[in-house]
Amino acid sequence: MDILPLDPTNWSHVAGAAALLVEAFPHSWPTPGDGLEEIECCLEPSRIALVAWEEGRVVGFVGAIPQYGVTGWELHPLVVAEGVRGRGVGTRLVRELERRVAEAGGLTLYAGSDDEFGRTSLSGCDLFDRTWERIRDIQNPGGHPYEFYLKLGYAIVGVIPDANGWGKPDIWLARRIAGSPPEGAPA
Ligand SMILES: CC(C)(COP(=O)(O)OP(=O)(O)OC[C@H]1O[C@@H](n2cnc3c(N)ncnc32)[C@H](O)[C@@H]1OP(=O)(O)O)[C@@H](O)C(=O)NCCC(=O)NCCS
Repeated sequence: MDILPLDPTNWSHVAGAAALLVEAFPHSWPTPGDGLEEIECCLEPSRIALVAWEEGRVVGFVGAIPQYGVTGWELHPLVVAEGVRGRGVGTRLVRELERRVAEAGGLTLYAGSDDEFGRTSLSGCDLFDRTWERIRDIQNPGGHPYEFYLKLGYAIVGVIPDANGWGKPDIWLARRIAGSPPEGAPA
């Protein structure tokens, strides 16, 4: 398996990545056309987009968007084909993305991971009430991907209560991808 930049001239890359998005997030991108439109956005020159390529097909896709000049980047989107999950493909995609974002000047990479379907203990409650206590005590009965990010060294740095409707928060995770702060930096 190789991790490669998404090649806009390679239809297998473009269509393969779009199909993964539609398959994994039908509520966000219900049609193949929606998937292709999202890939077009991911291919904007300022962004980074990578595919996991195995035996002539895309089995994973990750993107990043510079949101604070070049220092703070949002990881979006991330998907691994259902049949190959749990084999380390997601980890390899994120690690290569981190390397490239750091090379482009990134200090922090962060991701918003929605809980729209009641998968964690942060759903179905008022997250404006005891916010940090609830984050500290988070449970994951539904196999929500925040745990994937924790395993890769990301920390939960906040939530957006009701981002997707009442009791359906977005969970924000971030990781320092540059080395240590320079001497004297306000860290
Ligand atoms: C989340 C996702 C990208 C992970 O990819 P993957 O290739 O299966 O991940 P890896 O095999 O590299 O897993 C790394 C570790 O994270 C754990 N992990 C992965 N997904 C997890 C989940 N949903 N819940 C709990 N743990 C998870 C793995 O068990 C593994 O743990 P280990 O190191 O103890 O063995 C993949 O499951 C996916 O595409 N899911 C659907 C789309 C999605 O939710 N994207 C993220 C949106 S923010």
